[in-house]
Amino acid sequence: MGVVIITGASRGLGASAAIHAARRGMGVILTYNSHPAGAEEVVRQVEAAGGKAVALALDVGKVASFSAFRDKVAAALKATWGRDRFDALVNNAGYGAFNPIETVTEAEFDGLLNVHLKGPFFLTQVLLPLMADGGQIINMTSATTRVATAGTAPYASFKGGLEVLTRCIAKEFGPRRIRANSVSPGAIRTDMTSEALDQSPEFVELLAGQTALGRIGVPDDVGRVVASLLSEDNAWVNAQNIEVAGGYSI
Ligand SMILES: NC(=O)c1ccc[n+]([C@@H]2O[C@H](COP(=O)([O-])OP(=O)(O)OC[C@H]3O[C@@H](n4cnc5c(N)ncnc54)[C@H](OP(=O)(O)O)[C@@H]3O)[C@@H](O)[C@H]2O)c1
Repeated sequence: MGVVIITGASRGLGASAAIHAARRGMGVILTYNSHPAGAEEVVRQVEAAGGKAVALALDVGKVASFSAFRDKVAAALKATWGRDRFDALVNNAGYGAFNPIETVTEAEFDGLLNVHLKGPFFLTQVLLPLMADGGQIINMTSATTRVATAGTAPYASFKGGLEVLTRCIAKEFGPRRIRANSVSPGAIRTDMTSEALDQSPEFVELLAGQTALGRIGVPDDVGRVVASLLSEDNAWVNAQNIEVAGGYSI
């Protein structure tokens, strides 16, 4: 089944994807930024399920740190799995921010750009030489790329860029049989969204009402899809954006 690297898997969607991938037999290298304890808890859950996982620190906004990260990945692959290559990369790490176009600052714009587009771009570039031929990349984007949502302009624009990048990766690395897809969640209750959702039950009701299946999502709604995409069952799915949103705004 191989080894998957999942960025931002100390909680939320990444943690769910890590646990579901491990349940399907994959080894997991998961990254954290500010919550090492969350990452260790995910490692513990993977091990309790009989799998293997390693947690590494990574700030996806700091491109200069990526080659040192690649060296740590290589060491972890050797020490834990006795191999030189990994099989899949899930660019999931990210954060949300409410940024109306009229008031967003350059620093807020650059912060989102670095984590949601520039970081995945250069992390993929740095890690591709370590990826086995026949491997795959999944980029976590957002349903805000399809449904314009006030206050998300920079975030949604960079996620949209990530969807384009996904197709470019599929094109350029097809000769190595590497496939690339993006997964595009609707509103999911995680640490990223819970404050906004808790502040406004009406907002939750509105989102649920705009969703064919009548509710907002939970992390496992997305984690299961990521794990499934990683499996051989989806080996012919390539260069697609897969919205995982229960039928949001259709
Ligand atoms: N929740 C939603 O409704 C929703 C909808 C559409 C798309 N998404 C996307 O799904 C992804 C995961 O979101 P989530 O809801 O699971 O959020 P979350 O629960 O807040 O988790 C975010 C994860 O990303 C990591 N992270 C944040 N900034 C980072 C940075 N600069 N460098 C490295 N890691 C960083 C965090 O690490 P630490 O905890 O260690 O700091 C954490 O593991 C994001 O890309 C988000 O944009 C979420």
